[in-house]
Amino acid sequence: MAILVTGGAGYIGSHTCVELLNAGYEVIVADNLCNSSEESLARVKKITGKDIRFYKVDLLWEKELREIFQKEKIEAVIHFAGLKAVGESVQKPLEYYHNNITGTLVLLHIMREFGVKNIVFSSSATVYGKPETVPIKEDFPLSATNPYGKTKLMLEDILRDLYQADSSWNVILLRYFNPIGAHKSGTIGEDPQGIPNNLIPYITQTAVGKLETVGVFGNDYDTPDGSGVRDYIHVVDLAEGHVKAVEKLAGQPGIRTYNLGTGIGYSVFDMIKAFSQVCGKEIPYVIKPRRPGDIAVCYADASLAKEELDWSAKRGLDEMCEDAWRWQENNPMGYRS
Ligand code: NAD
Ligand code: WQD
Repeated sequence: MAILVTGGAGYIGSHTCVELLNAGYEVIVADNLCNSSEESLARVKKITGKDIRFYKVDLLWEKELREIFQKEKIEAVIHFAGLKAVGESVQKPLEYYHNNITGTLVLLHIMREFGVKNIVFSSSATVYGKPETVPIKEDFPLSATNPYGKTKLMLEDILRDLYQADSSWNVILLRYFNPIGAHKSGTIGEDPQGIPNNLIPYITQTAVGKLETVGVFGNDYDTPDGSGVRDYIHVVDLAEGHVKAVEKLAGQPGIRTYNLGTGIGYSVFDMIKAFSQVCGKEIPYVIKPRRPGDIAVCYADASLAKEELDWSAKRGLDEMCEDAWRWQENNPMGYRS
């Protein structure tokens, strides 16, 4: 029996494949490579010394997706595949709704057809909108302000409705905070196309000389140093959380929702400073206006995942920076290096 990982060639997916293989699972990846390359999977195989069966398939291709379920004995699905750029989602809402919502509906229909009713879904802290207080708990009110976030919220609702209608499904919704870092080997990592949207790849690409300066989006927030505070979590901790979730699915838990974060908030200035120390050079920055839609502070209460999944993040800020830097230095052009 195998785990189907949709979007498994991507950033979080590739790291999760490593942890699944190391834990002894058989892994099948379905990815259309729209934001990744097969090279990541070649490296996953190298790291683990184990094989992955890869299908280059779009979740919207119902026939081809069905063929995977016909061929393979799939026990559970970890569903990472989706488009994830907040700004782009505002420009291209139809593409985001079609890819993320329709793609997931096609997947769920086929899973039901084959009696595969175990799914771990990649949700996001973005579903908490503008939280009133921190740390954020799973039962806080949900809202979304952009099409990307709305797809996550809608998909959570769809999965909750599905379970309501048929309680033989087992669904785990994992709400990630801010994944950063890379595998220790420095051979797999985050490989954004074009100018990065997120802070950490922007910092590492500045440190490696690809970009000139980091723009700090606002230094007048109500935070200790005025810049935005986030819960950065090492991608390998996140990947381990997925293995725990798959183990939990085997115990038929019904529907569960967990925050995956560290519970610690760091500011933009904290991150620039930590990276400067790790890479041994000053990282130039300029203060820019606030980015529309950003919130001041966001960090998790991750105690539910600790209690029910026996999972907690183990890797600290220095390790996150060191690993992100090793990946960036070894692969200045990402997988095209
Ligand atoms: P990523 O872009 O690196 O990985 C997503 C993968 O899905 C890519 O390999 C892409 O080619 C594939 N994909 C997209 N649409 C597809 C489709 N229709 N059919 C087949 N494959 C498709 O992104 P990531 O950072 O690894 O994120 C994985 C998941 O986690 C996404 O659902 C994302 O929304 C969610 N998430 C990410 C973050 C983050 O900050 N990285 C935070 C919270 C949630
Ligand atoms: C972090 C902090 C910025 C870039 C996003 C998505 C969220 C989730 C994770 C998928 C903020 C500041 C950023 C820069 C900066 N993804 N910043 N200069 O916005 O917390 O979350 O990724 O689900 O949905 O919204 O992450 O890395 O973009 O920003 O000053 O060039 O860094 O203002 O305070 P964010 P981020």
